[in-house]
Amino acid sequence: MNKQRLFYQLLVGMFLMSMSLFAQDESELLGDPDNGKKIFTGQCAACHKLDKKAIGPALGGVAERRDMDWIIAWTRNNAQLRASGDKDAIAIFEEYNGSLMPAFEYLSEQDVKDIVAYTMAGAKPKPSPDDDKITTTEVGGDSDDGSIWIILGLAIFLIVLIAILVKVKNTLKVIKGDPTSSLLEDASVFTKVAVRNRKVITLFTIVVAIFLLNQLYWSLMSIGVEEGYQPEQPIAFSHKLHAGDNQIDCQYCHYGAEKGKHSNIPSVSVCMNCHQYVQEGPKHGEKEIDKIYAAVGFDRETSQYIEGYEKKPVKWVRIHNLPDLAYFSHAQHVNAGNIECQTCHGPVEEMEEVYQYSPLTMGWCINCHRETEVDTKENGYYEEMHEKLKAKHGTDKITVDMIGGLECGKCHY
Ligand code: HEC
Ligand code: HEC
Ligand code: HEC
Ligand code: HEC
Ligand code: HEC
Ligand code: HEC
Repeated sequence: MNKQRLFYQLLVGMFLMSMSLFAQDESELLGDPDNGKKIFTGQCAACHKLDKKAIGPALGGVAERRDMDWIIAWTRNNAQLRASGDKDAIAIFEEYNGSLMPAFEYLSEQDVKDIVAYTMAGAKPKPSPDDDKITTTEVGGDSDDGSIWIILGLAIFLIVLIAILVKVKNTLKVIKGDPTSSLLEDASVFTKVAVRNRKVITLFTIVVAIFLLNQLYWSLMSIGVEEGYQPEQPIAFSHKLHAGDNQIDCQYCHYGAEKGKHSNIPSVSVCMNCHQYVQEGPKHGEKEIDKIYAAVGFDRETSQYIEGYEKKPVKWVRIHNLPDLAYFSHAQHVNAGNIECQTCHGPVEEMEEVYQYSPLTMGWCINCHRETEVDTKENGYYEEMHEKLKAKHGTDKITVDMIGGLECGKCHY
């Protein structure tokens, strides 16, 4: 085997590999279809589909009929565009009988370009009913950031391996030429090889060790985040997909948290606000969303509710539950206390399935009341009390225990 030739072949191979990693396709030059997909599914999919008319027109390939500036202006404030006398804007508004599309002024120009990149990418393969699933999962599904490291690691691994093989071969040749030893009979031939190639073997061991440790680290990291605690729920509802990827606000679904004791679990009619139009999921296709339809009585074929259908509520399995002797109110904490859901429930937006993040013990409640300052800003109720408490405790820092947060009666009936 010619060492030099092999080395060059490897070099060329690596070069080609890195070229293909950095290659961009056309749509990426315009905007990032991955980001576009996120915004589209979260903000637009309730009214727009790519391939057919929903509440608004099909947006697949929209850039073929409108220019980018127009799409940006329309998306960010279509009422303003119409007010400026834009004929196209007025015409499409009339065509849809004056249905209102909300203004999305918080979206940047780049955001809209990203959405368009997604609609263009999504429109290319004309979806036939059969390969619908494939197109929805594959859009923007290019290699993730980790892959380049894996490939690099493998390349280094390969180089070292080849170096060793070449070296070992040379050593064997030397040993073979040695009249005092016979290769086949001498059991210590491997020791000799090892001793002669100490450096190379050390290097090899280190590389393998790093590789294995890295694998171990990542497999440990994923335990409990994706596969750990999984109380079986009747529908494979993912918080990661909804609250994370699609950035749906927690209180869009758990709207009770702000007003009352309990944070409600949304009814299926809330799901239908979107799932009337979002009829397939990236992981389970139609299967899981069909369970929503079975609960409310919705016909996928006709996209219509079935008349006279008796609704069946979904029986979600409850995860958090305080004993009856304790009283806890969400409104007190979320609204008055201004505490983020995540402080108590952890990174729900990253959980495929929710698990109990905090212990919910009395000690846990009390500790936080001792440590947390009461948010008195813009809170008329506290202004007066704040001054009195400051005087009483001789400090500027008013924690929950000072307003009675440790009194038994506050948490126990
Ligand atoms: C509440 C429903 C609704 C939402 C949400 C919505 N749209 Fe629309 N959109 C419409 C309607 C309805 C029309 C048709 C024109 C009209 O009646 O105003 C429309 C028209 C459009 C058009 C013009 C299409 C054409 O063929 O000229 C574009 C572009 C568009 N929407 C982009 C978006 C984007 C991007 C989003 C998400 C950021 C979005 N829309 C979210 C309802 C909506
Ligand atoms: C699209 C609707 C939706 C959104 C958005 C949403 N949730 Fe939920 N949430 C649900 C549903 C449905 C359940 C019940 C099924 C389950 O446990 O996964 C639930 C369950 C939970 C539970 C467990 C309740 C129990 O049984 O003890 C917590 C905690 C929770 N959500 C917190 C959050 C937080 C925090 C956010 C925002 C980061 C959020 N949710 C966003 C729909 C939603
Ligand atoms: C504000 C819009 C919205 C609401 C409300 C909503 N979803 Fe979704 N849902 C989505 C979007 C967007 C997707 C992802 C579609 C995609 O990426 O192709 C999705 C996907 C899904 C999937 C498919 C998951 C998969 O991987 O295949 C299921 C199941 C689902 N949602 C259940 C629910 C349930 C149950 C509720 C009510 C508690 C709900 N959704 C409420 C927007 C919503
Ligand atoms: C101060 C801590 C804390 C904060 C902040 C908090 N929760 Fe909770 N949450 C709890 C506790 C404790 C329970 C168990 C309540 C019970 O069993 O009565 C709970 C229960 C729930 C439940 C199950 C239904 C229920 O009310 O029993 C949901 C859903 C939920 N929380 C969602 C949310 C959402 C969404 C937010 C943010 C808007 C939020 N929580 C903020 C502590 C908190
Ligand atoms: C993350 C910190 C935190 C945790 C955990 C927490 N609390 Fe609180 N709690 C607060 C804050 C902050 C306030 C003050 C809210 C306000 O401004 O009124 C408060 C207020 C209260 C009050 C009203 C006190 C008063 O004097 O008006 C009750 C009752 C209460 N919490 C019960 C609980 C219970 C029960 C638990 C445990 C299941 C709990 N809290 C866990 C931060 C927390
Ligand atoms: C900040 C809220 C809070 C305050 C203040 C509080 N408790 Fe509790 N207590 C709880 C919660 C929550 C539980 C349930 C914990 C659990 O299930 O592990 C509990 C549980 C208990 C229990 C049952 C213990 C058990 O093992 O089941 C007793 C007894 C109790 N508390 C007594 C008291 C007394 C006495 C006081 C006043 C000195 C007090 N608590 C103050 C929140 C509070």
